[in-house]
Amino acid sequence: MSQIESLLHEDRAFPPTAEFKSAARISDPAEYAEMYRESILDPEAFWGRMARELPWMVDFDKVLDWSDAPFARWFEGGKLNASAACLDQHLEGPRAHKTAIRWEGEPGDVREFTYTELHAEVSRCANALKARGTKKGDRVAIYMPMVPELAVAVLACARIGAAHSVIFGGFSSKALRDRIQDGDCSTVICADGGWRRGKILPLKREVDAALEGIDSVHTVLVVRRTEQEVAWFKERDTWYHEALAAADAECAPEPMDSEDLLFLLYTSGSTGKPKGIMHTTGGYMVGAYLSARFVFDLREDDVYWCSADIGWITGHSYIVYGPLSNGATVVMYEGAPTTPHPGRFWEICEKHKVTVFYTAPTAIRTFMRLGEEHPEKFDLSRLRLLGSVGEAINPEAWIWYRRVIGGDRCPIVDTWWQTETGSIMITPLPGVHDTPPGSAMRPFFGVDAVILDEAGAELPANQGGLLCIKKPWPSMLRGIWGDEQRYRDTYWSEIPGVYFAGDGARRDEQGNFWIMGRVDDVINVSGHRLSTMEVESALVSHPKVCEAAVVARPDEITGQAISAFVTVGADVEVSDELRVELGEHVTQEIGKLARPREMRFTDALPKTRSGKIMRRLLRDVAAGTETSGDTSTIEDLSVLAKLRGDEI
Ligand code: PRX
Repeated sequence: MSQIESLLHEDRAFPPTAEFKSAARISDPAEYAEMYRESILDPEAFWGRMARELPWMVDFDKVLDWSDAPFARWFEGGKLNASAACLDQHLEGPRAHKTAIRWEGEPGDVREFTYTELHAEVSRCANALKARGTKKGDRVAIYMPMVPELAVAVLACARIGAAHSVIFGGFSSKALRDRIQDGDCSTVICADGGWRRGKILPLKREVDAALEGIDSVHTVLVVRRTEQEVAWFKERDTWYHEALAAADAECAPEPMDSEDLLFLLYTSGSTGKPKGIMHTTGGYMVGAYLSARFVFDLREDDVYWCSADIGWITGHSYIVYGPLSNGATVVMYEGAPTTPHPGRFWEICEKHKVTVFYTAPTAIRTFMRLGEEHPEKFDLSRLRLLGSVGEAINPEAWIWYRRVIGGDRCPIVDTWWQTETGSIMITPLPGVHDTPPGSAMRPFFGVDAVILDEAGAELPANQGGLLCIKKPWPSMLRGIWGDEQRYRDTYWSEIPGVYFAGDGARRDEQGNFWIMGRVDDVINVSGHRLSTMEVESALVSHPKVCEAAVVARPDEITGQAISAFVTVGADVEVSDELRVELGEHVTQEIGKLARPREMRFTDALPKTRSGKIMRRLLRDVAAGTETSGDTSTIEDLSVLAKLRGDEI
């Protein structure tokens, strides 16, 4: 039952250009193969060596202790401070006055911090926290827009050894309250508000509502961003700028044990309460550092931009900890991708001379829909590498990204990973691999990925099954905050002793991995288990389609039938003929079996706030039943309401 049929075939593959290869950190396939081999066969030697590239305060004595599986202990005996690894280590040499963060606000205001300036700001913030009684071992909730102070707050917590728990600024006060309570936080860092699509998000008001009746929080540090009126609780609230003005710019980084908690980050499954994913200092930093270095091929003169929010794991690992520990110049942007105009992202790429750009398929599909004329207005010739994360990127969007944004010259790294994995797990190495559109390619160093059936047997090439990881890796989650059993049950019990976090995939005969979506979303038509990803890809490969989601609907004859939800280009008329045309297109692309039984056109699909399509909500719409399960993570509830009312 665990096997998933694969119907999609992709023969194209794009090698890196000679120019890219000649400058890449790794370009020799033999060197890569040897490094990967060592990382799997002798992980202690490999990880020991890689880890020692970070500035440990005290060296570790043991690379891995897995005797208490599934609770790993990496780099025991070692002491490291994550903020010192991101800042202090760069202050001695030529990076001292290099730009660390170049930030642009939604209204167009720009601020820059060199490594020296960022170090001073983080130290002041750390001292301000200490002065208010926040200390090593505490948890600090951070609820902010994408302003530089968000990165500062994260690093300041790391500096004093308090674990941060960043809660995405788009969440409601209820979600914030649940997370503050679950983490038993002593401190909140927030802003008065943030800009989003030209409007102010009233963040401080949400914090005030969230904290009603909670007495664990003694301090709320408030960044002034939007300058609207806010309620003030004198005992508890402090302006960030006032507290920092009074604080010293030197704060010695706390020596943290490798296994000390660095942060909690909540991830919501489709049901149940959000899980506080725990990441610890040493292993997480090694994973973030090394993957940023090799996957994004970071070089001294790169200007690197990841468009995620720091409220998600992508922002933690690939805006803050990964690139900064590599001494990179990081671009950070506050606002929405299309505010005030549809070319906003490309304007930022041109203006800040971005060379490496990392975004999500949902954004790429939005830009496809908006049209090529927007990126065409801007000079994107400095881009040399593109990345994708968060969902499977369908080949059509991949090709568009490569051609329109990457000028047919930039390699694309489609990176598969999770909040739980801490860092990138399956990815091409851009100087080494020829990349087929739609494949996340190969396990990263030290990642022992396999495709298994439900009994734990390895499946042959091209057979879709459960994507599992056999060996522990440094940046793996260390547990779920306050719920040891849930950690064991969720990740380690499907196949005992092996990590499984819910995705289906296949590996082709060359060893490339193709992610097929969440196994919970798999559709069973007449006993054939089909991947949502493949049917959606087939739909999106039709020139009139922008985005598609398919889900199972109960069917008396076939068990389940495919219901498709489709968004089309702005100038496309929807009609029954188009429905037939798209059905035939799917039949041609992957076969009759996958042809949707039913197709609905819609302006938008329901998505999470991080841009993932919420198929479980569409399942209820398709089945004609009430919405079941949690809708608190949906970005725009009106999309769902419309879908229920507006069938054509
Ligand atoms: O289903 C996979 C999908 O996103 C899930 C992890 O989500 P989250 O913890 O929010 O982290 C997102 C950022 C790392 C995975 O289980 N996913 C992520 N990247 C890809 C992907 N699906 C296909 N291809 C990817 N590159």
